[in-house]
Amino acid sequence: MAEEKKDIQVLLSEKRVFEPNPELAANSNVMAWMKKHGLNTLDELLEKCQDIEWFWKEMADELLDFYKPYDKVLEWDAPWAKWFTGGEYNIVHDALDRHMKTDKKNDVCFVFEGETGETKEWTYAEMYSEVNRIANALKSLGVKKGDRVGIYMPMLVELPIAMLACAKIGAIHSVVFSGFSPTAFAERMNDCEAKVAITCDHFWRRGKKVALKDQTDAAMDMAKTVEHVIVYKRDGDPVSWTEGRDHWWHEIAAEQSDECETERMDANDLLYILYTSGTTGRPKGIQHAHAGYALGTATTLKWVFDLQEKDVWWCAADIGWVTGHSYIVYAPMILGAKSVIYEGAPAYPEADRWWEMVERHGVTVLYTSPTAVRAHMRLGEEHPQKHAMKSLRILGSVGEPINPEAWMWYHTYVGKDNCPIMDTWWQTETGHFMITPLPITPLKPGSGTRPFPGISAKVYDEEGNPITNAGGNLVIEKPWPGMLRGLYKDAERYKNVYWSRYDKTYLAGDVTRMDEDGYFWIQGRADDVLNVAGHRIGNSEVESALVSHPKVAEAAVIGKPHELKGESLSAFVVLRKGVEPSEELRAELREHVGVEIGKIARPDEIGFVNDVPKTRSGKIMRRVIRAKAIGEEVGDTSTLANPEAVEEIGKAK
Ligand code: PRX
Repeated sequence: MAEEKKDIQVLLSEKRVFEPNPELAANSNVMAWMKKHGLNTLDELLEKCQDIEWFWKEMADELLDFYKPYDKVLEWDAPWAKWFTGGEYNIVHDALDRHMKTDKKNDVCFVFEGETGETKEWTYAEMYSEVNRIANALKSLGVKKGDRVGIYMPMLVELPIAMLACAKIGAIHSVVFSGFSPTAFAERMNDCEAKVAITCDHFWRRGKKVALKDQTDAAMDMAKTVEHVIVYKRDGDPVSWTEGRDHWWHEIAAEQSDECETERMDANDLLYILYTSGTTGRPKGIQHAHAGYALGTATTLKWVFDLQEKDVWWCAADIGWVTGHSYIVYAPMILGAKSVIYEGAPAYPEADRWWEMVERHGVTVLYTSPTAVRAHMRLGEEHPQKHAMKSLRILGSVGEPINPEAWMWYHTYVGKDNCPIMDTWWQTETGHFMITPLPITPLKPGSGTRPFPGISAKVYDEEGNPITNAGGNLVIEKPWPGMLRGLYKDAERYKNVYWSRYDKTYLAGDVTRMDEDGYFWIQGRADDVLNVAGHRIGNSEVESALVSHPKVAEAAVIGKPHELKGESLSAFVVLRKGVEPSEELRAELREHVGVEIGKIARPDEIGFVNDVPKTRSGKIMRRVIRAKAIGEEVGDTSTLANPEAVEEIGKAK
């Protein structure tokens, strides 16, 4: 609790308010909609949209095109929601097919830029043809409606193509971030029982070539269900090949027609599974369905980032995470936007790479993470200052709380004091923005401001009473269209994790405060999940990776505040009998976690100890370890089975 109180006080001192830019607000999509409905203020809009069935029906009429009209907007049997029941729909119809009937087909959908500087534009028509070829290729490999396809690809346009090709034929994609290890990829493929995997030969990251096909081969040795692998040729250097299993993308695509009928799906059929960290070692397979997800993502993007015909949208996230799924692939394509996809690392090879790209591509809306902002901040404001970036009109932030200092830097040096910052709070589970400013919302640096229309977010105390101006649990009281449709093959875990704390109310797992103006201040995860550079990593995942090393007996992993990444990982490791601590072993263990999970999960620090504090029931007391490690008051240790282990933490070698 000591930590929470401190956070609240720090945030309370943040009193700056930035009023909306009148011109931007007056010409915004949301304002046009409000006028149409006779609404004048944000309060009136939020009030009116509390009738969620009315609101989402209005938006569905505006944004979605069903093959067969739905009977009901919502069927809610908590914790199971069905949206647009009776409707027949496919998200690919809205993202691609229907654009072929208009001039949109000749507009640019994606501008790709490789790390080495080459660029390529893809029109909607070109996307359509390639998606159809790959969809037909998947069919030729025996993929059918409802089958799972694993995708392990970096930031290439072929990644959205692969996703849309799956969705087009009714297959369920599961994208695994290309920074994950082969073990992590294989684990996810086994969990969702994927039939086919799609990958590429190599890609570039920070000037280095990553041999993704080799990693895929290693994963395939462990993935029991995958029968075929499609390999996109990014650079053409030789790769190892398994005849009969491996197929070159360009060869298999060339054999196919560029027309492929889109599967008419039930509106609630599954679109994808995306794994995210939970409190146990096993990641959760979050499921999203076609129509509700399409509506939630498209509505939020249209209103929050105000996408209009002339915009150039750059969501600088990786498609391997939900941000890329929702806001690089599906929502922008439904809205017919022009988006930038960049393969490489920020600030590479020069510190101003991003700012130079914003100017060269005429980016109007830029969406990134606080970690990226802080990294740029450290490199110095002289880099964004070299570029006027006159095209920019709106900025965005996602993934973790943005500290007011980083907010101000972003606003001043990137936005040149002219662009609002949309600090969007949401999760893999929610599918789309939930708490976020609109172009008409006064901003407070560090706050995600207020719930999106139709989203009933509150802060509850332990007993389930709504509270103001005190830290509590962030909850959502009513269903929303993009909400997760359970966890893959694990209904019990779905109910336990999200719906068991409060009756018929979704528990987000974030500690939050709502101020007297109804503004939300997210303070971080309440559960044993860390947020490292905007990526969720379960403490227990890293602990199990460490314990899987033959020299480790036990491990406790905590997050420490980190200037750049928000949180950094520290591990306390108990070695097996007879094993001596050493620098080599420390490096070996870091590497081992990299292999088991991926580089992002490697602890920054590893301390060797004789014991870790535990409860009498054997639960590792991470709260106590963390307090000791960061020099805070440890509090009551009387419930510990081994209070002396607390001192061990202080003496870790
Ligand atoms: O703790 C919150 C934090 O990221 C978590 C969700 O992580 P993930 O499912 O990986 O999705 C990240 C991208 C949507 C949340 O529970 N988080 C996300 N956005 C914000 C945030 N914390 C504070 N402010 C945000 N804007």
